[in-house]
Amino acid sequence: MTQRTRVGGAVLVLSLIWSSFGAVAAHADTLEQWLHVQLPYSTRVLLDNVGPSAGVPNAAPGAVIASQSYEPFYRYHWTRDGALTMEAVVGLYERATDLQHKARLRGLLADYVSFSRQNQLTDNPSGGADDLGLGEPKFNIDGSAFTGSWGRPQNDGPALRVSTLVHLARLLLKEGHEDWVRKNLYSPSLPARTVIKADLEFISHHWGDASFDLWEETKGDHFYTRLVQRRGLLDGAELAEHLSDFAAAQWYRSQAAALEPELNRHWDSQRGYLTVTLNQVGGLDYKSSGLDSAIVLAALHASPRNGAKDSFYAVTDDRILATAARIAQSFRQVYAVNSRDRDWNAQAMGVGIGRYPEDRYSGTNSSNQGNPWFLATNAYAELYYRCAKTWEQQGSIRVTRARAALFHQTGNLSSLQANVGEVISRDDPRFQVVLDGLRETGDTYLRRSRFHADAHGAMSEQFNRDTGYMQSAAELTWSHASVLTAAWERGK
Ligand code: NOJ
Ligand code: NOJ
Repeated sequence: MTQRTRVGGAVLVLSLIWSSFGAVAAHADTLEQWLHVQLPYSTRVLLDNVGPSAGVPNAAPGAVIASQSYEPFYRYHWTRDGALTMEAVVGLYERATDLQHKARLRGLLADYVSFSRQNQLTDNPSGGADDLGLGEPKFNIDGSAFTGSWGRPQNDGPALRVSTLVHLARLLLKEGHEDWVRKNLYSPSLPARTVIKADLEFISHHWGDASFDLWEETKGDHFYTRLVQRRGLLDGAELAEHLSDFAAAQWYRSQAAALEPELNRHWDSQRGYLTVTLNQVGGLDYKSSGLDSAIVLAALHASPRNGAKDSFYAVTDDRILATAARIAQSFRQVYAVNSRDRDWNAQAMGVGIGRYPEDRYSGTNSSNQGNPWFLATNAYAELYYRCAKTWEQQGSIRVTRARAALFHQTGNLSSLQANVGEVISRDDPRFQVVLDGLRETGDTYLRRSRFHADAHGAMSEQFNRDTGYMQSAAELTWSHASVLTAAWERGK
């Protein structure tokens, strides 16, 4: 309610109606109005889940609590969730204008840097300090090792952390804090003394090792893990070069290049999509399709933070787009909630997206039925916003097979005449039509999330495939981070 009154006159009136008639009038909000309320809410939940946290007294400063939920128990710091959440905090820092707010965010980020370094120095079941222990997926929120059985190691974590911290380092360098960066983030010395350097040494020497995937279930070689490893190495190389660690930069780049042919092996030309895992050596045995929204997350989480151009499995890559379309198609069938495709205002809603079609994890156990996830559905919004932005910057769109198929399947673009092989340039009236159409497609996915979230903005991990009600971990930090990053792509 207090959030809502900030929006301004029109919404104030709406919100008064809303408070007297339950959630019904809230549905009259446009997506902009919803975001106006949702973004501050998501920001608050996200920041409340970084230690020190009022709700979680034993969380160390800089620990990121995946969710405050007890059932399932998510009061841990996962390296992956932590890095993705802190990427959003870096985004908030970048956008903050209020000096006090900025100082608070800088404090949280510095705490996260120390907490992460502490994790690296903690022996754990994946291995020793500053060694194989870097692949440990999660730590207790007081920073001690989690010693229960788990799918470990998970080697995407250090890579995501590098990209987040290099993003932070770029901002701090611009602000003139080179000493702080050298002392806390990256120093060339070996054995490593700083968090980014230790992660880069780990990634560059161990990217070939089999590990568990981001869903913590399958052991093998994963497209997601490898694509974010490549990005981490390239980001790290850029920073190393900036700080005159030239030989290291060259080594990290060489390993990034060595990952490329491995990633290309995931393209299954017969099935026409990128298959998520190769060379499986352990874990679940029922992921038969190889379709997984981790492919879309990979393209997003591996996109350059500094606006650099890199077309290698970018969101606009044909293989990414073709795979994304196949995944959505399969979830359309798998989840009953998707049979409803209009919201209360008769506005189109995109498909609720889950992890993968064969998923059985319901939040309480893994012998159930999987559900759509907010973070995956929001990722589809971000995907199409990012495509629009990329093409806008490029100033032209080459029509490829997957792109033609995308236009064809996109409600408001389905009648667009575009032939494979032609180039639509900025002065062609179709150029703007495509960009608007893609942004509208992104909006359909945010409408889906909004439809299943609660009227105050709460977002759990999943929403039930049949009833549409939220389930599993309440107020999942990563769900909220994914709202922020999607909205930022939309806004740009
Ligand atoms: C908990 C993990 O976090 C989740 O990703 C997984 O599906 C289940 N365990 C089952 O392995
Ligand atoms: C289960 C998800 O599968 C995994 O990716 C995540 O790290 C944990 N939950 C914590 O949110």
